[in-house]
Amino acid sequence: MEYERAVETAPPGWRHFTMSDLDRLPAAVRDHELARIPHAERELLAAGDREVSERILRALFWTFVYHLEPERWDALALVEPIHPSVLAALPTARGRVLEIGAGSGRLTAYLAERCSSLIAIEPSTGLARLLRSRLPRIRVIAAWAEALPLPNHWSELTVACGLVGPDPTVLNELERVTVSGGEIVLISPEQPEWFEGDGWRRLSLDPLPCPPHDDWIESFFGPLDPPHELVSKRIT
Ligand SMILES: C[S@@+](CC[C@H](N)C(=O)[O-])C[C@H]1O[C@@H](n2cnc3c(N)ncnc32)[C@H](O)[C@@H]1O
Repeated sequence: MEYERAVETAPPGWRHFTMSDLDRLPAAVRDHELARIPHAERELLAAGDREVSERILRALFWTFVYHLEPERWDALALVEPIHPSVLAALPTARGRVLEIGAGSGRLTAYLAERCSSLIAIEPSTGLARLLRSRLPRIRVIAAWAEALPLPNHWSELTVACGLVGPDPTVLNELERVTVSGGEIVLISPEQPEWFEGDGWRRLSLDPLPCPPHDDWIESFFGPLDPPHELVSKRIT
């Protein structure tokens, strides 16, 4: 997610984290995430600007959750199930499937039962651990969507849920690893209207009510928004 957008949309739980949490991130994750922060903001930070610290904490909220408190993400994912009609709209003939940013397996469990070969990309060690404990037979690789460790045209279906936006580096990677005739499907992408404008097929459904859940989930993450749309593109 772009820096400004991440600052603006940070859920209330951003106040739970402090700048010292940056040091608790694995070095590769910290470097990857700091590279998303505009240079001018990093200069202000180095000069001790207090307001920039708040913006950085807001921008890194999801990073802190995935890498430092993955069980919180897992609790949220459990009460935000993917709309069944979105799952039903996924292509049915699947051999090799690649899921980017698999998290703790909300979508992976569905895919694992319906394809012959599944690779899940997940950079968070804690989320990957949860994923492996639930789905011990699938291959989980720690990597970034910006540089996928897969050969060209490996995947027949490349899918992500709640992750990809109109970032040319990532979209080029998804196209590179997807075979001609294969499909890229993004569930709950950032800025779905951008994809629609770019010629992707868009399916948007009314959200379904969420299952009962503890109060802390909304106090921390804000109003729930279970995935209820997808965009897709066939690679030619
Ligand atoms: C919103 S969560 C969605 C998790 C899962 N797809 C689901 O729907 O339950 C985003 C996931 O993408 C991972 N992620 C974040 N940035 C990433 C990147 N640049 N490349 C690959 N995965 C990333 C996070 O660690 C997290 O597991």
